Amino acid sequence: MATEQIFIPTKENQSRAWISSMEEYQKMYDASVKDPEKFWDEQAKEFLYWKKPWDTTLEWDFTKPYVSWFKGGLTNASYNCLDRHTQGLHRNKAAIIWESDGGRTKMYTYQSLLTKVCRFANVLKDHGVKKGDVVAIFMPMVPEVVTAMLACARIGAIHTIIFSGFSSQALRDRIQDSNAKCLITVDAGKRGGKVIPLKVMADEAMLETPTIETCFVVTHSRATINMQEGRDFYYHEETRRRDISNECEPEWVEADHPLFILYTSGSTGKPKGVVHSTGGYLLGCAITTKYVFDLHDEDIYFCSADVGWITGHSYIVYGPLCIGGTSLMFEGIPTYPNAGRFWEICEKHAVNQFYTAPTAIRSLMKNGPDEPSKYNLSNLRILGSVGEPINPEAWLWYFHEVGQGRCSVVDTWWQTESGAHMISNLPGCTPMKPGSATLPFFGVQPIILTEEKKEAAVDEDGRLCIKFPWPSMLRRMWGEDSDKRMMDNYFGIFPGYYFSGDGAALDKDGYYWLKGRVDDVINVSGHRMSTAEVEAALNSHAAVAESAVVGYPHEIKGEGIYGYVVLNEGFEPSDDLTQMIVGHVRKDIGPIASPDYIHFVPDLPKTRSGKIMRRIVRKIAAGKIDKEGFGDLSTLVDPDIVDVIIETRPNA
Ligand code: WT7
Repeated sequence: MATEQIFIPTKENQSRAWISSMEEYQKMYDASVKDPEKFWDEQAKEFLYWKKPWDTTLEWDFTKPYVSWFKGGLTNASYNCLDRHTQGLHRNKAAIIWESDGGRTKMYTYQSLLTKVCRFANVLKDHGVKKGDVVAIFMPMVPEVVTAMLACARIGAIHTIIFSGFSSQALRDRIQDSNAKCLITVDAGKRGGKVIPLKVMADEAMLETPTIETCFVVTHSRATINMQEGRDFYYHEETRRRDISNECEPEWVEADHPLFILYTSGSTGKPKGVVHSTGGYLLGCAITTKYVFDLHDEDIYFCSADVGWITGHSYIVYGPLCIGGTSLMFEGIPTYPNAGRFWEICEKHAVNQFYTAPTAIRSLMKNGPDEPSKYNLSNLRILGSVGEPINPEAWLWYFHEVGQGRCSVVDTWWQTESGAHMISNLPGCTPMKPGSATLPFFGVQPIILTEEKKEAAVDEDGRLCIKFPWPSMLRRMWGEDSDKRMMDNYFGIFPGYYFSGDGAALDKDGYYWLKGRVDDVINVSGHRMSTAEVEAALNSHAAVAESAVVGYPHEIKGEGIYGYVVLNEGFEPSDDLTQMIVGHVRKDIGPIASPDYIHFVPDLPKTRSGKIMRRIVRKIAAGKIDKEGFGDLSTLVDPDIVDVIIETRPNA
């Protein structure tokens, strides 16, 4: 369903907004691209505390690639997120409101969070963690995960959070790649009433991660666990030690000092460690949180993401805390105990801004269409969407049923690599078109290029690239060969530009319409999955000779995972084997990588040079089985295989 409808922010949203007219937006945007250094110089002074000012605002060369923001400046992320808010009226303000899976609430003021962070930072130091060391965090949505992140930042250690839904093998791989020397985890997590044995999984991973010297365990579920003498320590015992001080002087780090590494999927099988800076990253988070969510001092802001993803980093922790906001974090899932859980939380805490993913919206729209009307949602002003293009049906339901036609829906396009919002409407001024992320944020200079590397015409599909650096952009890839991997993944494809991996088109009003990934990455429920990674997992099963994985349109998830599997000799297709193969992938990567379909095929359509013709398997998975639309098949070794695959398609 396409819609030509345009929605204008209400008078109320307009009148209280930081940016309340398109003239203001345009003026500020023009200033930000005409003289970016001047613009970001001013913003960096307004939004952050600097121990020492920078010497140069920006140095860059996308052909190397090399980017440095605020060189010579010294700052600290935990100081910016905590200490400076404890020096005034914010001291007693809630920094974090935590809502548990079972419905309990805990609240942390800026002062109490600062004390906790300092104590844990001192514990880390006492265990030998220093500036530049990597600390792996394998934790669910418990308040201590925020303490852990900020304690690392306080001492200049680099955190790397591994999503708690990943398997022990995925955890092991990321620890090995990052060379982390410390791991912070919990006894067990709770989600949707289920207990997830994280320490058991961590133990399994640590059998093969010799770099880990210390493991801290937060007690959360009273699960029975094993503690290895000399390596494992209870977080609460350590932080309560009498000899641990309440104060910890922040380590003042260079603006480009890595704040964290976050692993994400690319076109290759191996996850990439994206490295974010301290100063530029924090600035990007802070300024977008203020303007895109129109966050005011009295607001209560709720982002439903998990801290294991970039959304949790930027918009549960660093953005809101950096500007002294109140951030609500939720341990559970949207459908437990029922599909009204999010709305119940919004009512209970009088939430003003709510941020979630289209997949959650679609699922709630299907499983609890009337739930929003059962709650008092009158405090909501702004509804955010992130993770994939939002389909107009979901947008309209969100707008009318959750937002009661009163709230602005902000569709925020960005990526792990961008650190912060890149294209989004502003809730007090931008006219909204359902399904479009609308216009670039301040300082962001997008360009849509065709495959011939020319600028695309109006409404012409192309690749979304960025022309000019922005402060919160990734700085490098963790590990060896960073420059080469930066070129291969982002800067070498359209030389001189950052390439996002997304398809997009620009309409006559200058609005951006995102069209999904154009590389071998699929977007499952707003999570990035590399097809090569799932193929590698499939191929490592004893029964599997070969596989091809593609995405296909899925009603709730956006894209589902479809795996074509060629079996080794001696194995026969069966439901049991399907189950075993799916189980194997879950164990290898995690439940999010579970194929929705396994399609056993005798062979894959390959060209004479041995390449799988992906456009064909993609079409068949999507149910487009009319061979008219398949294009030229003459380069295939065995064109007949296409018919066999079509005939054996499940539910065909
Ligand atoms: C990819 C980045 C950004 C945090 C969550 C995902 C897709 C994200 C939108 C949006 C259309 C979107 C893109 C992008 N995406 N937001 N509002 N409209 N597409 O982060 O895992 O790094 O994935 O998510 O394809 O490249 P990520």
